[in-house]
Amino acid sequence: MKIIRVENQAEGGKIAFILLKESLAQGAKTLGLATGSTPISFYEEVVKSQLDFSEITTINLDEYVGLPVEHEQSYHSFMAAQLFNHKSFKENFLPNGLAQDLNQEVKRYDQVIEDHPIDFQILGIGRNGHIGFNEPGTSFATKTHLVDLEASTIEANSRFFDSIDQVPKQAISMGIASIMGAKMIVLLAFGKEKAKAVKEMISGDIREDLPASILQKHDNVVVVVDKEAASELE
Ligand code: GLP
Repeated sequence: MKIIRVENQAEGGKIAFILLKESLAQGAKTLGLATGSTPISFYEEVVKSQLDFSEITTINLDEYVGLPVEHEQSYHSFMAAQLFNHKSFKENFLPNGLAQDLNQEVKRYDQVIEDHPIDFQILGIGRNGHIGFNEPGTSFATKTHLVDLEASTIEANSRFFDSIDQVPKQAISMGIASIMGAKMIVLLAFGKEKAKAVKEMISGDIREDLPASILQKHDNVVVVVDKEAASELE
């Protein structure tokens, strides 16, 4: 793992954007995208840029189950507001959290990933070390799957909803094996509430209780951390 320390989230977004440009120059065609507050500064850089994405495909990590696409907290809405309304891509894929048959939807999404191998994956990290919505204890072998969100994740994400009862209890998420299949992974972490997860991810044992720790086994990971998120590192 390569670690890049930055002053703040704005600088982190700029670094991630430079890494993206390098990947595109090397022929990257498919981007794996993430939601949450963390990648926002990265998306701002992408939107400001003159880069043409008309031949680029995007595949998002996850989506809540049961939220209408137009709900402002759906990941469809988030991606539209942060990126897709401003930049056109060849295709944008997200899981359909309203699919009648969620098992079928999970299979469809795995096929999407198989058909479009991810060249460049942006990741955030949950306070409990989750990536995507792969909660602690998720097998490292999982592909796309239906997830019961942990109480701590529901609580952390409730800041975006009017009340905690409105936070969906389930999501569809790419699995750890899907994420590990990406050619390059750039994980961003900002703020002190991420410090413990960042430390465990980088220097803890590789274990399913800390999903992000599997990234130690990937040969092309860059971790971009601000001072607070890096505060527990040596
Ligand atoms: C959410 C998302 C993750 C994200 C994480 C951190 O639950 N599913 O993809 O990385 O939580 O969110 P934030 O960036 O807002 O701290």
